[in-house]
Amino acid sequence: MGTPIVEPVVSKIDWGSERVHGPTLKILTASSSSATGEHANLRAATISLTSCREVATILDFSSLQLISQAEDTSVTVVVISYMKEIPCHFCRGSSCNNGSNVVGGVDLAPVRCPRSMCPLSSITSCKVEVTLQFDEVVLAPLTRTRSYGNVPQPHVVLYYSQRTTKGSFLISEATGVSDTAHGYKDTPGIWRKDQVEAWKPIVSAVHDKGGIFFCQLWHTGRISTKDFQPNRQAPISSTDKPVKTQTLPRQLGTNEIPQIVNDFRIAARNAIEAGFDGVEIHGAHGYLIDQFMKDQVNNRTDQYGGSLENRCRFALEIVEAVVNEIGADRVGIRLSPFANYMDSGDSNPSALGLYMAESLNKYGISYCHMVEPRMKTIGEKVECPESLVPMRKAFRGTFIVAGGYDREDGNKAVDEGRADLVAYGRLFIANPDLPKRFELDAPLNKYNRETFYTSDPVVGYTDYPFLENVV
Ligand SMILES: Cc1cc2nc3c(=O)[nH]c(=O)nc-3n(C[C@H](O)[C@H](O)[C@H](O)COP(=O)(O)O)c2cc1C
Repeated sequence: MGTPIVEPVVSKIDWGSERVHGPTLKILTASSSSATGEHANLRAATISLTSCREVATILDFSSLQLISQAEDTSVTVVVISYMKEIPCHFCRGSSCNNGSNVVGGVDLAPVRCPRSMCPLSSITSCKVEVTLQFDEVVLAPLTRTRSYGNVPQPHVVLYYSQRTTKGSFLISEATGVSDTAHGYKDTPGIWRKDQVEAWKPIVSAVHDKGGIFFCQLWHTGRISTKDFQPNRQAPISSTDKPVKTQTLPRQLGTNEIPQIVNDFRIAARNAIEAGFDGVEIHGAHGYLIDQFMKDQVNNRTDQYGGSLENRCRFALEIVEAVVNEIGADRVGIRLSPFANYMDSGDSNPSALGLYMAESLNKYGISYCHMVEPRMKTIGEKVECPESLVPMRKAFRGTFIVAGGYDREDGNKAVDEGRADLVAYGRLFIANPDLPKRFELDAPLNKYNRETFYTSDPVVGYTDYPFLENVV
């Protein structure tokens, strides 16, 4: 990066009016090479980079760095340095009246070629800071079993839209990547065209309210049963060891693994096609990816079993494939190294979590979302001495935590730098306006477990009252 030859440009973009949805969106990650602040102060952030990406293409901004930080409701882009000197691709070096110098809604007017009229001809690389509001209250991925026949339904629009506020980040319920992925009735998928089409109005509704929406990509592996499998075949896994009462799984052959990796890749592409801003790879809770990572499940003898490195290979291959398909900025992953749901414990979860956090840095993904050690079993919090802090320190992107958080606890985790964002599950089920209630420190509706996984399109789903209807 060369020395700036002009003073920094500071421009404001109004979040609401400038926002462009779809494949142009990019999640900005906290960067270890931040020029502006400590890692702990950085926040996950999303901005439309239609124009920035164009600039990156047009001007070969190989060293473009975007740094995000929570602020107010506006987005600030600051050009802090740039380097010379290639001809503008609009005008090929001649004086240019047509080449726009508005980048992502930001007027780069002062960044001009000193030697020509063309506003872009001198920029070959550029460093910018971006600041924008990002709500720290994330909607955790929550399976709600209301997508009949694995197709998201119109009532899902209301559910997600109720839980969206401007600048909020939502992660969808776990969504199957292929016809072998499902393990529960009426969970949505994203491998078929009709499913992609069905997601579109749901994603659109979230965008219309200013939210950012990632799709959680899921394969249940041995948690499935033959009732959910094509031709009632055995569910696939890293192993042939069953979970308690489930169907005996079939251990995937080494040569079959690339196909499953590819299913995730295609599903990620489909998610972008449906309008999602990105995907979260579901590597938690004893499902397929976790079945590879955890040594109490994985009994393979090939390059996907045995050592920590081998057990994490499948997860990292999926990350790599998805990153290559849709871009690192649109990719997050969820991990639960400490959980032992569905017989998926590990003998050294701290080492596993740390290895993954470090390895993920290589791919530059947007975020790592980890479930707290205290959520060893589903739905219940048990206090324990383990902590995610080493993983938080090791991972160089945005770090999201989840599991048993309330308002106070979540604020504390962010304030103490243990997390950038906190995802809320059950509280968000029962409180569609959870961010507002947190802001006002208002009382919360209680969730009803009985209706977590029922099929009703309204009851226990979209009928939890908003604050104004309670007070
Ligand atoms: C009804 C229900 C459905 C869930 N579905 C998912 C899911 O689809 N994907 C996932 O990663 N976690 C899922 N979880 C776990 C939650 O995302 C979250 O980690 C868990 O509820 C703990 O957070 P909480 O204490 O804020 O509820 C689910 C939890 C509940 C209660």
